[in-house]
Amino acid sequence: MTLAGKRALVTGGAGGVGVACARALVEAGAEVVIADATQAACDAALERLPGGVRAVVFDVSDRNACEKAFADQAEAGGVDILVTSAAIVKAAPILEFDPEDWARILDVNLTGTFHCCQLAGRQMVEKGWGRIVTISSVNGQIANAGRGAYSCTKGGVDMLTRLLAAELGDKGVTANAVAPIPVDTPMILNVHGPKDRAAWYAQTPNPRYARPEEVASAVCYLASEEAGFVNGHILNVDGGFMAAGVLPGRSTS
Ligand SMILES: NC(=O)c1ccc[n+]([C@@H]2O[C@H](COP(=O)([O-])OP(=O)(O)OC[C@H]3O[C@@H](n4cnc5c(N)ncnc54)[C@H](O)[C@@H]3O)[C@@H](O)[C@H]2O)c1
Repeated sequence: MTLAGKRALVTGGAGGVGVACARALVEAGAEVVIADATQAACDAALERLPGGVRAVVFDVSDRNACEKAFADQAEAGGVDILVTSAAIVKAAPILEFDPEDWARILDVNLTGTFHCCQLAGRQMVEKGWGRIVTISSVNGQIANAGRGAYSCTKGGVDMLTRLLAAELGDKGVTANAVAPIPVDTPMILNVHGPKDRAAWYAQTPNPRYARPEEVASAVCYLASEEAGFVNGHILNVDGGFMAAGVLPGRSTS
């Protein structure tokens, strides 16, 4: 599987999953640009990544900033592979969810993903080849109590991905999502304590969280030439979580 000659852009590229995706894409031969919200985050990520990776700073929820960033990419050769990993999360019960937090999470996770997919998708259609890989979550398919806005955005990302697949499949472009259970990254350390971890382990056949590299290998497969007929798929990277029901004998204590 090679991505030689392909230009990839990873949003949220300075985050836990984003850095792993960027590294895996480079190792598969792609030219990689990471995109994230601050220069400091990008600089720190570049130190952990192989030489040759470049960074651009923009807020995915800012349409003007997205347009400028993707126009710059078009001038540099265009985006062949887009990975949308930028997202934020907040834990709160639905009846107490702050409407401003709700709006911000939708703006970043869903509308921001739309902006990037639309702008990159146009470049891919022009080239007649492209791979869009959205980073969703199993929370897009099940209601994870306490993650109201986040879960709704991931359900939206799943549908956006299918929609892109339906509209772009005849233009050489595929769109698929990777949907992990919790991944050991800074995002999860902020919202999960030991009790959450024990509860997830108890309901997951492979009793642990996903590793960023495991998400990244699924992304690389979906970005490859070989995955050209896989379109509109939500690929769970979840240790069997979505396949299993009650796991007798497992305990959360
Ligand atoms: N960590 C998990 O447990 C987990 C589980 C399932 C799905 N995911 C998904 O994986 C993806 C990456 O998560 P992660 O664990 O790497 O989180 P992370 O917090 O480490 O990384 C997210 C990155 O997105 C960036 N970002 C946030 N808002 C942005 C904005 N407005 N514009 C540009 N960049 C912005 C952040 O700066 C950060 O670098 C997300 O889509 C997340 O929903 C994560």
